[in-house]
Amino acid sequence: MSDPFSQAAWDERYRSRSSLWSGKPNPHLVSETEGLRAGSALEAGAGEGADAIWLADRGWRVTAVDLSGVALERAAAHAANRGAGIADRIEWRREDLTSWDPAAESYDLVSVHYLHLPTAMRADVFGRLAAAVAPGGTLLIVGHHPSDLETTMPRPPMPELFYTGDDIAGLLDAGDWDIVTNDAPGRVATDPDGNPVTIHDTVFRAFRRKASKRAGHD
Ligand SMILES: C[S@@+](CC[C@H](N)C(=O)[O-])C[C@H]1O[C@@H](n2cnc3c(N)ncnc32)[C@H](O)[C@@H]1O
Repeated sequence: MSDPFSQAAWDERYRSRSSLWSGKPNPHLVSETEGLRAGSALEAGAGEGADAIWLADRGWRVTAVDLSGVALERAAAHAANRGAGIADRIEWRREDLTSWDPAAESYDLVSVHYLHLPTAMRADVFGRLAAAVAPGGTLLIVGHHPSDLETTMPRPPMPELFYTGDDIAGLLDAGDWDIVTNDAPGRVATDPDGNPVTIHDTVFRAFRRKASKRAGHD
């Protein structure tokens, strides 16, 4: 079986359907960032681009990164359909987040939605994405909560892919961050048999302090 985390696997997944996602911004992105002043944003695992487009529409300058060229072509076409005012605010980059090193302390917002990787890879990727947040900036990570594995919603049977907000907090230097949201709200979805099922998203938002509270810093 091919590596499910490879570019080939993601491209194949995108090619299998004319669209994989709803085309709407993720609700947690909207609720968690609505009050932030627009600046530079890194949208990691941008998929078909709905979140990057929503951010650009709100005035953010967005670097949108994904492993899949198929997804990015689709995303860029959606942005172009919205007009130059939005398309020109987004740079689409095909990068593998497991090796790409974003510039440190560069983005006012780093946003990640439903990027699920094995534990060691995830720690490495989330660590580098956190390091890319500028002092005074925001890290937002949203994913499927481990409790979803106990529901009838289909999820890959690989518990290590799922994470809590505490797992993410554990990757950060506590002296550098204020945790604003560490939550796992439920929402009702429909399982493949048509039955309603309550699933949970991990929603983690942290503010990078302008001055570290680590020992030795004022
Ligand atoms: C579940 S989709 C979520 C897409 C989008 N964030 C959303 O919520 O609609 C995960 C995305 O992460 C991308 N991805 C997976 N592994 C990646 C990697 N190593 N580097 C960059 N992107 C990756 C996939 O191509 C896919 O578009």
